[in-house]
Amino acid sequence: MGNINKSYIEDYIRMLVKEDEHLTDIREYGEKNNVPIIHPEVKQLLKVLVQIKKPKAILEVGTAIGYSAMVMAGVMPEGGKIITIERNQEMIDQAKSNIERKGFSDMIEIREGEAEEILAEFDEEIDMVFLDGAKGRYQDFLEYILRNLKPEGIIVADNVLFKGMIASDDLVVRRKKTIVKRMRSYLEHISEDERFETSIIPIGDGVAISYNRR
Ligand SMILES: C[S@@+](CC[C@H](N)C(=O)[O-])C[C@H]1O[C@@H](n2cnc3c(N)ncnc32)[C@H](O)[C@@H]1O
Repeated sequence: MGNINKSYIEDYIRMLVKEDEHLTDIREYGEKNNVPIIHPEVKQLLKVLVQIKKPKAILEVGTAIGYSAMVMAGVMPEGGKIITIERNQEMIDQAKSNIERKGFSDMIEIREGEAEEILAEFDEEIDMVFLDGAKGRYQDFLEYILRNLKPEGIIVADNVLFKGMIASDDLVVRRKKTIVKRMRSYLEHISEDERFETSIIPIGDGVAISYNRR
């Protein structure tokens, strides 16, 4: 990714991150085949957050091949459930097969289709949200998420610093201008809105954690 952290810092942190051995093959497949899965340090952050928060229900946007969903499922309390949204049929097929093969079918449900449409209809209580797909739409999703996020719930949003472009106009490439504009608006919104307490963390491609103060 680059532009968020000095590589020696990133390399050092990654050296300390423990491998989730039950998911090594999925991670390696993703890396070899250019499937964008969470960075190791973000994986570690998610695992810590899930174990602190102990969510019964997690909503994820962006399943890809199921890696992050299975990381979270692996540290959720018994009876926990993840609903994860994906629109790409090839990803859906691979995620289904991975989730079944790794024994997470009881915990992880894939909702197939456009996140915008699925979230507009979404009506289930959730304790934690992981936004990792449709980068330009996080702000639009917020309204739907807030209808369903329990008091004291958290929203974790990945890629919020988007290769450094969000913080510096000098790094913005022309075809990403809209995403940059929308992501800045998302970060301003969740930072200013009294209903949230937000922390933006420069690891991976940038992660924002927002706590629902209601
Ligand atoms: C970064 S990948 C997700 C990686 C996954 N969370 C992981 O770390 O293992 C983003 C995924 O979001 C999906 N996606 C992007 N926009 C979407 C949308 N509007 N609705 C549903 N899925 C979307 C893409 O097809 C892609 O598979």
